[in-house]
Amino acid sequence: MGESSVRVAVDADMPGVREVASHFEILDDWAGMPDFLDAERAFGSLVVGEVDGRIVGFGGVLRRGQVSHLGDLYVLPEHQSSGIGRTILSRLLPSDTPRVTFASDDSRALGLYIRQGMRPVCPLLYLTGSPSEASLPRGFQARGTVDGPRADSGEPPGIREAVMLDGRVSGGDRAGSLSWYAGLPGVTLHVTGGGYAFARMIDEDLEVGPVGGDTPQDCADAVFAAAGAHPGADEVQVAVPGVHPLLPRLLEAGWEIDDLDTFMTTEPGLVRLDRYLPHPDLG
Ligand SMILES: CC(C)(COP(=O)(O)OP(=O)(O)OC[C@H]1O[C@@H](n2cnc3c(N)ncnc32)[C@H](O)[C@@H]1OP(=O)(O)O)[C@@H](O)C(=O)NCCC(=O)NCCS
Repeated sequence: MGESSVRVAVDADMPGVREVASHFEILDDWAGMPDFLDAERAFGSLVVGEVDGRIVGFGGVLRRGQVSHLGDLYVLPEHQSSGIGRTILSRLLPSDTPRVTFASDDSRALGLYIRQGMRPVCPLLYLTGSPSEASLPRGFQARGTVDGPRADSGEPPGIREAVMLDGRVSGGDRAGSLSWYAGLPGVTLHVTGGGYAFARMIDEDLEVGPVGGDTPQDCADAVFAAAGAHPGADEVQVAVPGVHPLLPRLLEAGWEIDDLDTFMTTEPGLVRLDRYLPHPDLG
């Protein structure tokens, strides 16, 4: 291996970072718009690994209050298992504040995260279902959405309520990144009294998340308010922690598991997994 270094990303690194990201097909849902790599630089940090002047890996974190959400850790195949991922991780993650991530099934990733203090808590299942009433689990009623024109301040409607509700279930405040996300094209916000859901059309499908609320029922109300506001969507996608009460009910109603990761954290209990459905890329 040639000369390697690990450092915080600068603007000039971003084409190289996006090449690595494209190799792993993680930007496919973000074509033509600001993406979560931009968000990591603005609301967290992005660290690159370079060999002989070429970006060969990167890692990204988003912050919410004291919590660091590790969103990405990727090293190109020909440079894997040579210490770059471990070095990026140690540069990226603090050792004295809470850390969370959604780990892939790569044994190196799982091993590195456990050695970094995180523990596997439960699977995070990526489900897809139909937006129709027929896909509502029995006993769950979709309620109305607080939506409307932007306030004079230019804030998306409902953003303050959503930020407050989100802070109670996601482990920390992230007013900046949620406002950023709510302002992206195709993103809508649905506030249903005790719950909130962000949603984004990706081609013909609707991605719902983050979602949260004071109770599991509030989460369900918010998911179905978002789905109900997009009746033309082919499919609805939502990430559900294995311990969330909505999970068996969605599967009974015909939703399907597309993929899964492992939710890991240094502080079980901090993120309220029975009242929270994260966004796959934003946590
Ligand atoms: C996961 C990934 C980022 C790690 O980066 P990397 O540069 O390959 O990893 P490193 O060489 O720095 O470290 C790997 C560590 O895992 C250890 N390891 C290897 N196989 C292992 C196993 N089966 N169980 C536990 N630990 C293992 C290695 O010993 C090494 O630790 P050491 O350097 O202290 O000896 C990289 O392999 C990758 O991009 N994988 C594919 C994409 C992916 O799944 N990313 C994770 C997203 S959550």
